[in-house]
Amino acid sequence: MTTSPLDSLRAQFPLLQANPELVYLDNAATTQKPLAMLDAERRFYETMNANVHRGGHRLGHAATEAYEAARITVARFINAASAGEIVFTRGATEAINLVAYSWGGSTLKPGDEILLSTLEHHANIVPWQLIAQTTGAVIRAIPLLDDGQIDMAAYQALLSPRTRLVGISQMSNALGVCPPLAQIIPTAHAVGASVLVDGAQAIAHQEIDVQALGADFYVFSGHKVFGPTGIGVLWARADILEQMPPWQGGGEMIERVSFAGTTFAPAPRRFEAGTPAFAQTIALAAALDWLRGQDRPAIAVHESALYRQLAAGIDQINGVRILGTATGKGPIASLVFSHAHPYDVAQFLDERDIAVRVGNHCAGPLMQSLGLNNGTLRISIAAYNTAAQIDLLLSTLNETLELLA
Ligand SMILES: Cc1ncc(COP(=O)(O)O)c(C=O)c1O
Repeated sequence: MTTSPLDSLRAQFPLLQANPELVYLDNAATTQKPLAMLDAERRFYETMNANVHRGGHRLGHAATEAYEAARITVARFINAASAGEIVFTRGATEAINLVAYSWGGSTLKPGDEILLSTLEHHANIVPWQLIAQTTGAVIRAIPLLDDGQIDMAAYQALLSPRTRLVGISQMSNALGVCPPLAQIIPTAHAVGASVLVDGAQAIAHQEIDVQALGADFYVFSGHKVFGPTGIGVLWARADILEQMPPWQGGGEMIERVSFAGTTFAPAPRRFEAGTPAFAQTIALAAALDWLRGQDRPAIAVHESALYRQLAAGIDQINGVRILGTATGKGPIASLVFSHAHPYDVAQFLDERDIAVRVGNHCAGPLMQSLGLNNGTLRISIAAYNTAAQIDLLLSTLNETLELLA
C-alpha cells in the first residue's frame, strides 16, 4: 500500500500520531510540532549546549554559530535582504512592543496618528495605546466592510500627513480575512507613514517575501509556524533598524559599559538584551527548514480545499453561519449560531475530541464592531488536517445544534 503525501506529513507529527482520533482545528492559536523541530532542539541541548556570544570555548563557539545560522535561515525564509535585519524576540507580541517602544517612543509626537485596522489582534493594538499615552499620539481605527474586508475608501480618507504608522494584519486571526496589503502599503508610504505588518497568522499559510511586500516592519511568532514557543521575529529594513534606540538594557546589547555612560551594539544585537532563547531559535530555524522542504503550493491548495469543504458544509446546516465572506481568505472560519452559545458547542465538540477555539480571539474591537457579546467559535486549519476531519466536524456540529435547538 502506498502512503499519501498527507499521511506522510501527518506521520512527522508525534502528537498527531499519538492521538489518531484527535481533530485539531485550533491551529491559529498554535500549531503542532514536527519531529524535525523537536529533534533539533533536543540535539542542540545534547551536543552543543552553551550560552551564545560569550563562551571562550568550543561549545560556546558552536552554539553561537548555530544561533547566527538560525538568523540567516529566518532571513532566507522571509526573503530579507540580510540576516542583520532579523531581531529575535519572544514572539509577535514582543516584536510589536519593541517597535512601539523603540521606534514609536523615539519618533511619535503629540497629534501624530497611528492607523490600526479593526481586524487587529490585541497584540497590534495595546502596545500602540501604551505608547500613544506617553507620546501624545492618537490612534484611529480603520473600519471594515460588511464582508470583513478593510473599508479601503475609509482607509484612504483617514490617511493624512499626520499618519505616522499603519498597523495591519496580513491575515486576521479571527476571520481569516487578508487585507489588500499591495494597496495599503504604498498608499501609507505616499503620505510618509511607516507600515507594520502582523504576519502571525499568514506565515504558516503563505510564502513571505518581505522585500516584495515593501512594508517597514514584519513580525511573527515561531509557535504558529511549527516552531517552539518563546521565540519570535521582528524584521525591519536595515536603515530603519539602525536608527532605532534600544528598548531594553542588559548584557549583549552593549558595546562598552561604564558608569560614565554606555554605548550600544549595532542592530540587531542592540535589541536582544540578555541571554536569548538560543535553543528555541535554533529549533525555529529547523521548523522553517522543515516547512521549506514541504510542497508549499500543494499545502496551500489542500488548505483552501478544506476551507471550501467547510464553508459548503456550514451552508447546509441550520442555525450557523461563517462571519466574514470576503474573498481570498485564509483557512480560518469564525462561526456564529442563531440558537446556541459557542461555548456549549465547543464543549460538545471537545467531548468528541474535536479541538476548536471559542471567545473573542484577542480581537475585542472586532467583536464590538460586529456586535458580538459571546464571541465566535473558530475553526483554523493547518497542513495536516484532512477532509475526513472536516466531514466529522460538520456532522458533529449538525448533531450538536439539533441537540441544543
Ligand atoms: C494576528 C496575531 N497577531 C499577534 C498574535 C500574538 O502572537 P503571540 O501571542 O505568539 O505573541 C497573534 C496570536 O494569536 C495573532 O493571531
